[in-house]
Amino acid sequence: MSHEASLRADRDAPRDRHRANRSIRLEHAHAPYAESLQRYAGRIEVRAGVPGHVGDLDRGVADLLGDALAWDIPPLTDGIDTEPDGGPSALDAARALAADAWGARRTWFLTNGASQGNLTACLALRHHGEHIVVTRSMHSSVTDGMAMAGLSPITVMPHVDPIRGMAHGITPDELDAALAAHPEAGAAWVVSPSYFGAVSDIGGLARIAHHHGVPLVVDEAWGAHFGFHPDLPVNALRLGADLVVSSTHKLGGSLGQSAMLHLGHGEFADELGANIDRALRMTSSTSESSLLLAGLDLARRDLVTRTDRITDSIAAVDRVRDVLRADSRFAIATDDIGDDPAIHGIDPLRLVVDTRGTGLTGHEARQRLFHDHGVHVEMSTDAVVVALVGAGSRIDEYALIRAFTSLPHGIARDVVVHALPRPGERVLDLRTAAFAETDVVSAGEAIGRISADSLAAYPPGVPNVLPGELITADVVDFLTASAEAPHGYVRGAIDPDMNVLRVVRT
Ligand SMILES: Cc1ncc(COP(=O)(O)O)c(C=O)c1O
Repeated sequence: MSHEASLRADRDAPRDRHRANRSIRLEHAHAPYAESLQRYAGRIEVRAGVPGHVGDLDRGVADLLGDALAWDIPPLTDGIDTEPDGGPSALDAARALAADAWGARRTWFLTNGASQGNLTACLALRHHGEHIVVTRSMHSSVTDGMAMAGLSPITVMPHVDPIRGMAHGITPDELDAALAAHPEAGAAWVVSPSYFGAVSDIGGLARIAHHHGVPLVVDEAWGAHFGFHPDLPVNALRLGADLVVSSTHKLGGSLGQSAMLHLGHGEFADELGANIDRALRMTSSTSESSLLLAGLDLARRDLVTRTDRITDSIAAVDRVRDVLRADSRFAIATDDIGDDPAIHGIDPLRLVVDTRGTGLTGHEARQRLFHDHGVHVEMSTDAVVVALVGAGSRIDEYALIRAFTSLPHGIARDVVVHALPRPGERVLDLRTAAFAETDVVSAGEAIGRISADSLAAYPPGVPNVLPGELITADVVDFLTASAEAPHGYVRGAIDPDMNVLRVVRT
């Protein structure tokens, strides 16, 4: 599931449960999920979201699906996962090739997404101490991983564009300040690229982390394809990161839910490698899908050997961008973020289009693109629509251009911007708060209490309160305003309308 889709699922869960209780008819002759999937897929003309293979039938992973049932074999099969003489297996060879392709000392294949990579990395990092400096825009799996591992976060605010609802990275200076103020931190953790394709100065961040004697972990979920073409950003491992989480299915072309974890070459590699082996056993199924593993192998093969296809993907997105740039209704949001010191590069396979000149919010434009033209894009905020093309995938750029240019001419509506509130003070460690006994209280009564949940208003999706932090009046006002806004929602809330919050019982 894509980030956006998982956010929507999370937001809608309580409403869906309510709806489900009212209206589900138990008719076993139906397969409601599969049937609606089939209907939805049948309506799509252009796919411009994850997984990055975008349903392209000319990719390696498509071969897998032709024979999907035959290729679905159990793990520990001799000749594939193991060799009777104890030598390297085909799976070992596939992982070694992936490590070579990304420049890693070792690579692990993951069948539960980059989320599994984040959980695993948190468990492994606990050996480096309890405290960790982390960009506050971390994925929810990092918060969960910290709760599981008993890690205590020292958070650094990412740079945020509040109008377009975009959160980006942090600068090396900001990391330096956080590590200098917190010598107890055992690791540094950043997210790059952002959901909008903004790449941080990973080389600079790695130098700062190493100067402070700690490893740098990069959640490069959205940059699995980096380093496989001269026009793509260099990948984080080659810039000095010690551990990199990569969501290969996003733009790297493997099947949904498949991902990789890459180990760097620096001084932390021996210890991290051993700890990851151990942590991975806690987060993996003993029946990993051979289809997902094979898809990772094929995606790596295509990324390394089919550079010409990546050239075509980049050229197609460039052409769409050029057409929209020339149309006064649109702005390419990534064109004017160059002054932000936290942004060191941009992923050219992201198309971030500000649609306000059409008189439509990004959300409304996204709905029209799908309903009127069958164009499925990755996500939207109040101001922008984000489309993407996987590295090496083909997209019908003319259909994409037709759909965008069919949007109306209108008067841009202002986006209502509420400044991000400062998070409240941490008064309890994250794990204790996450597993504490709780009370459910009204939003007003929650002020001054300790949050048991992580609550993040979208956009921009930076957690406004984490478990163990005090809930302030400003945070409650911001979360309530976000929940009330059209298309706004609060991830992690037990009540989508934010009437009640879950707090630690005192
Ligand atoms: C920054 C970041 N890290 C990790 C993940 C989790 O990736 P996956 O869906 O592969 O589990 C996401 C999901 O979108 C993400 O945005």
